[in-house]
Amino acid sequence: MAHAVLATTELEATLAWYRENLGLTCSDDVHDEESGELLMSFNRLDRGEDFVDHHVMFAMRGPVSGLNHFAFEVADIDDVMTGHEYLISKEKYDHVWGVGRHSLGDQVFDYWFDPYKRVHEHNTDNAVFNNQVPANKVTNSQDDLGGQWGPPPPDFFLGYGIP
Ligand SMILES: [Fe+2]
Repeated sequence: MAHAVLATTELEATLAWYRENLGLTCSDDVHDEESGELLMSFNRLDRGEDFVDHHVMFAMRGPVSGLNHFAFEVADIDDVMTGHEYLISKEKYDHVWGVGRHSLGDQVFDYWFDPYKRVHEHNTDNAVFNNQVPANKVTNSQDDLGGQWGPPPPDFFLGYGIP
């Protein structure tokens, strides 16, 4: 398992809990260009000099609190595409988003619904950071925030959360 993403109505409190109790550290905080409000935050493990994935927990402000998606790391880009074609062939799962490459975190991604409307991501080629990489702040005006390539996210997905 690579990471979990949460939607939350209490973003600052959620981030404080994970950082204070589990020692997570900020990779990227995304703020609204105009208001400065914190919109979402990517957080990683703190393993000192050892390199870890860009995020193990990502939280976004939303109208509800719940699980946005889980991500599972697969071997390589061929594995992402093989999985994509396999799930299409089953003709019983709904595709959500992808295939593309994220900007923050660099992963090649593919998102699918399971039968219970949970979203599962398969990804590969994560950016890895260690404690020499400072917390980064960006704004939602960054042109490629939706991805380096691939389709834009579906409208419902930002802020999506299920119990
Ligand atoms: Fe993800």
